Amino acid sequence: MTIRGNWYVKAAVALTALAVILLLSAPAQAQGAGEKVYKAKCAGCHGPDGAGATAAGKAMKVTSLCSDEAKKASDAAWTEIIVKGKNKMPAYDKKLSEAEIKDVVAYMRSLCKK
Ligand code: HEC
Repeated sequence: MTIRGNWYVKAAVALTALAVILLLSAPAQAQGAGEKVYKAKCAGCHGPDGAGATAAGKAMKVTSLCSDEAKKASDAAWTEIIVKGKNKMPAYDKKLSEAEIKDVVAYMRSLCKK
């Protein structure tokens, strides 16, 4: 076995490993986008579990995202509140993209299924 042959095998193994890592991480990233936005921008008021039981949440009368009323609200209604704001809820139309809002709504819905 020549040294060149060894290099070739190592490079092939490394490339295969890289491809596998990229394939595995792509869906995980899409799923985590809403969670990332929520934890960075929303959990401060709405709480990590969506119940709004944080100090800031209580002070601003944040309603639980998992209440019966919130569950009845459509994704479109939530999107509108996120885009335009409502009372103490800030508007995010300039801070989040449409895709980010869609991901964060999906993430909030998943919080209430637990
Ligand atoms: C400064 C505190 C604060 C932050 C930060 C905040 N919210 Fe809110 N949010 C509120 C308050 C207060 C309400 C209740 C508004 C009302 O009904 O008077 C609310 C209501 C909502 C509702 C409506 C829930 C229902 O009962 O139907 C949604 C959806 C929502 N927020 C999403 C978000 C998202 C997404 C983020 C982050 C991008 C976020 N909020 C960040 C304070 C906050």
